[in-house]
Amino acid sequence: MGINNIDRICIVGAGNMGHQIALSTAIAGFKVKCTDVNEEVLKKAEQFVSTYLPERVAKGKLKQTDADTARANLMFTSDLAEAASDADLVIEAAIENLEIKRQLFAQLDRLCPPHTILATNSSYIVSSKIADVTTRPEKVCNMHFFNPALVMKLVEVVKGPHTSEDTTGLLMEVCVRMGKTPVLLKQEIYGFLVNRMLTAIKNESIYLLDMGIAGHEEIDTAVTLALGYPMGPFRLMDLTGIDLTYYVGMERYQETGDPANRPSPLIVEKFIKKEWGRKTGKGFYDYPKK
Ligand code: 3HC
Repeated sequence: MGINNIDRICIVGAGNMGHQIALSTAIAGFKVKCTDVNEEVLKKAEQFVSTYLPERVAKGKLKQTDADTARANLMFTSDLAEAASDADLVIEAAIENLEIKRQLFAQLDRLCPPHTILATNSSYIVSSKIADVTTRPEKVCNMHFFNPALVMKLVEVVKGPHTSEDTTGLLMEVCVRMGKTPVLLKQEIYGFLVNRMLTAIKNESIYLLDMGIAGHEEIDTAVTLALGYPMGPFRLMDLTGIDLTYYVGMERYQETGDPANRPSPLIVEKFIKKEWGRKTGKGFYDYPKK
């Protein structure tokens, strides 16, 4: 199968990452079905698209005809079977939970045609933890986008021991067609390249905050101005979702049993209070509704 055989893409999950991956693929000319079990999340994703595209046109970043084509390329549905049954490629961007991903991949394997590639946008979980629930492990792979997916150029394509080179090659080509820059990881490693580095800086920042050494704003300012990062770790957690930080920590702790992997009490408190960052209007910072 070559890149010209990839026409229809199904995105599973319309949340923080899913809706932007869906729109990026639709702008790139693929026919895209974006699905989510939560109708409210789907509605929000659709609303985002209907404001984002005209804004891009008004900014002169997208031609009206290209915006119209992208909108026509993209549909939203809560019916997983409808979204997946004619897909050439599925990109799963559901919640960061191994059991849910395994259940989804088993379902997708039943629903999709035999040629369909099944990719996961998981932030940390390697695809070899998932591929064995399918009858096509050679077509299962990590394809990891970054938030905000419409803006960030990098995609990590991670080859599992079960993944064929045809699959990784094809996914790299899909990324290029989307205007992204893919990097290939030849072997699996928990958290891939970028999230391993980010986790180190995030953990150290939370430690410094917990110790009362400096406030979150000061830490963000220090990281932004001294290291040249576009945003500090606390603003970034607000962007990617404090719920994600919580789920990742819990998942890792359950797997390793190492208390060092547990989310810090501050993250647990914010998770319980639903202070998840931009998506709930409050995280480390406040985000008043426009
Ligand atoms: N969605 C879509 N587009 C957005 C956006 C969003 N949430 N936020 C900003 N943009 C676009 C703007 O429209 C603008 O586009 P244009 O230049 O083509 O007109 C462009 O981004 C710049 O926006 P702004 O001028 O408003 O703001 P900034 O210059 O401060 O950029 C940012 C915002 C792109 C978010 C920048 O701060 C940044 O790069 N931050 C770091 C993001 C990052 O590190 N991401 C990786 C997170 S880790 C991750 O995703 C891993 C995963 O597993 C969780």
